[in-house]
Amino acid sequence: MRTSQPQTIYLSDYKVPAYLVDTVDLRFELFEDGARVHSTLEVRRNPESGEVSAPLELDGDSLTLESVTLDGAELAEGDYEDRGDQLVVRSVPEQFSLTVVTWIEPQNNTRLEGLYKSSGMFCTQCEAEGFRCITFFPDRPDVMARFRTRIEANRDAYPVLLSNGNDVEKGELENGRHFVTWEDPFPKPCYLFALVAGDLVEKRDTFSTCSGRDIDLRMYVEPRNAEKCDHAMDSLKRSMRWDEEVYGREYDLDIFMIVAVDDFNMGAMENKGLNIFNSSCVLASQETATDMAFQRIEAIVAHEYFHNWSGNRVTCRDWFQLSLKEGFTVFRDSQFSADMGSPTVKRIEDVTLLRTAQFAEDGGPMAHPVRPASYMEISNFYTLTIYEKGAEVVRMIHTLLGPDMFRKGSDLYFERHDGQAVTTDDFVKAMEDASGRDLGQFRLWYEQAGTPVLNVSDDYDAGKGVYRLTIEQSIPDTPGQTNKKPQHIPFALGLLGKDGQPLALQLESGYSGAPMERVLELTEAVHTFEFHGVESRPVPSLLRHFSAPVRVRYNWTREQLLFLMSHDPDGFNRWDAGQRLAVDVIQSLVGAPDDTEIEPRLVEAYRKLISDADLDQALVAKMLQLPSEAYLIELSENADVPAIHRARDAVLRHLAGALKGELLACYQRHQGSGPYEITPEAIARRSLRNTALAWLLLINDEDGRTLAVSQLNDADNMTDRMGALRALVNSGFEADRQQALDDFYDRFQDDPQVVEQWFSVQAASDQAGQLSDIRKLLEHPAFDWKNPNKIRSVVGAFAGQNLAAFHNPDGSGYEFLADQVCRLDDSNPQIAARLVTPLTRWRKFAFAYSAQMKSALERIRDKSGLSRDVYEVVHKSLAE
Ligand code: PHE
Ligand code: ZN
Repeated sequence: MRTSQPQTIYLSDYKVPAYLVDTVDLRFELFEDGARVHSTLEVRRNPESGEVSAPLELDGDSLTLESVTLDGAELAEGDYEDRGDQLVVRSVPEQFSLTVVTWIEPQNNTRLEGLYKSSGMFCTQCEAEGFRCITFFPDRPDVMARFRTRIEANRDAYPVLLSNGNDVEKGELENGRHFVTWEDPFPKPCYLFALVAGDLVEKRDTFSTCSGRDIDLRMYVEPRNAEKCDHAMDSLKRSMRWDEEVYGREYDLDIFMIVAVDDFNMGAMENKGLNIFNSSCVLASQETATDMAFQRIEAIVAHEYFHNWSGNRVTCRDWFQLSLKEGFTVFRDSQFSADMGSPTVKRIEDVTLLRTAQFAEDGGPMAHPVRPASYMEISNFYTLTIYEKGAEVVRMIHTLLGPDMFRKGSDLYFERHDGQAVTTDDFVKAMEDASGRDLGQFRLWYEQAGTPVLNVSDDYDAGKGVYRLTIEQSIPDTPGQTNKKPQHIPFALGLLGKDGQPLALQLESGYSGAPMERVLELTEAVHTFEFHGVESRPVPSLLRHFSAPVRVRYNWTREQLLFLMSHDPDGFNRWDAGQRLAVDVIQSLVGAPDDTEIEPRLVEAYRKLISDADLDQALVAKMLQLPSEAYLIELSENADVPAIHRARDAVLRHLAGALKGELLACYQRHQGSGPYEITPEAIARRSLRNTALAWLLLINDEDGRTLAVSQLNDADNMTDRMGALRALVNSGFEADRQQALDDFYDRFQDDPQVVEQWFSVQAASDQAGQLSDIRKLLEHPAFDWKNPNKIRSVVGAFAGQNLAAFHNPDGSGYEFLADQVCRLDDSNPQIAARLVTPLTRWRKFAFAYSAQMKSALERIRDKSGLSRDVYEVVHKSLAE
């Protein structure tokens, strides 16, 4: 519990550690009523620190100290000071050995940081500052040590005992206990430490590396999940091969382990040699996981594996550098996913997340640079900006340097900094040194928060055949940052001629053989580019592949958007044109009378998409998704959510009504989709068919209803089963909805991952997820306040996806969320702080809403004993 005001920590205060730790020798005695941790550190003064007689300060949190021993002599109480969050030993020699014994209570740890219990097993989560909940230690990533870990526990209850590295010793102890000792030869920061003890089944495989070493791959799961490991194991092997081929990175230990745990605050964790996963991000079978889950699992397994180099071998100097490992690793996993599936579809998915959620963060009270300058609670900085914008920044370096130079840069980075804890600046420097390019101005991407806006205008001189494009950049103010400097922006573009053919982009007259696509580099506030030899007014295809994380403003006509939708050679921009058109149509209906005509050309464009079997079906499946409510809100000011919801809904229903025949034909065309496969083609077929079904049920079509009911009962995979369930839940067929939900629950009630999906399909539905329904879900026997996944699937889905219900004009949604945040603040502050997010955006909404959101935030602010996590988010949100 907080006793004083949380402190702000500044990057500018960084100092090298006064003491270094060479080795850590840990011994865990695990019991049902607690655990005793013996930790012996070999410590020496850091030669690079100027503080010659600094006291030794070790971090701690919620520890009961039992003893402190220095070079073999137990210290008396006056020789050290136990301040709770710090253990201070005033005078220590140049070099010494320190043993600290602490007692902790994993069984009562509901924060899920440090050592805790999840479904009967012991597990750990140490990033960012969880190791200090295990023992007193310099808990900062620039202290890297070699760890040796001995785990002792009852053999029957905990036959499997795991930690990082290689198992070097095991044996029996008295009273039915046993032990295993692990040794990790690679020095690492303590945030990468992990321990697992439980009754788990082991799945084994092997991987032969590029240099011919055989790696033992092992997955550990609860016995009931034994059949859900294959996909993750295959994904792991593909990731290992890909990292060798694309980045020249070979795995370094002899064993690589993955453990699945049910209670986990995040998705997964890259602990050295022992990755720990949230069950929902690793376990899958055809019957229980949707295509989306399969893809997410592949991406997360890859992400954690890739951290072995980008994060573990080369780690972060301090937590301000978090994007050094996260931005780079997200970029790597997105390249991997693109290579494994459809690159265009992967890009569309990444950009959708970025534009919907990261842009919102960057425009709100929690906006911060990719490399923040300050924070109160580091757990609040595992954000879309650090991860997704950070990945976009690395992607831009890749675009500016080209793939070969980028690879030279990453090789140099890994070689130069192997075994070190470094900064984002070291990363950029390696890219500069390898390529000879100056990235001085580019570094502003790490320092300036806010999404740059590019205002684009053009004119065409028919007499000279010159097309002129003017691009003006500006970066909005964000908390604590105004008057920003222009950034270095790679801007990919093409021009399309009258018949849709791509034009050569001649930047000087008389030059032939010019490319059809260019990456322009914007460095000034305003740039004008002239294209020569242009015979008629072209249609510009701007910011292809989304070459920079910016907002582009240009006065597209609907004709131009329709033209790009069918002619742009860049699949991403074809999709984007469709989105812009749909946004324009929906926006023009917000607040308009009910009988306002809906753009007939939109209907025709969608008719063509649904009916033309020659188009890339994976792209079509994406193009048919209307922009989400969240995205429409992000694009608006003074948002009136129910009005946006009605407008979007009206377009959807209108499309479904007008295209009923085409939808039925589309459904039928993709019906006999053959045996279950997870290829981009098969995924696209299922997605199209389920979109068709969802649209038909939105207009309460009887044929659709029959199809949905039989699909729900006959499906041989979760994608189709969930597609049918979701369609019924969102329809007006109330009796079928309830029947479908009940049957589904009966069938899958023993599978927590499926029950989570069952919760969220209801909580996110404007039909089945009104506040009274949500309250019932919280009372459901399968709901569990201690399990973050359950909280996310009910409370998170309601506030984050069921936007019309959450923004009920009576304010009940906000009050509800505030109640849940206060309730969770004591037991799991990290999850509580994340749940606040929807309220933090209060300034974005029309007054009737924003005033009530603000008062909900104030109510949270006034809760007594507020955690540092929630304190930071709420205070920043309310600040002027
Ligand atoms: N480092 C993890 C990842 O992105 C995320 C994480 C952070 C997990 C903090 C747990 C706690 O791969
Ligand atoms: Zn990561």
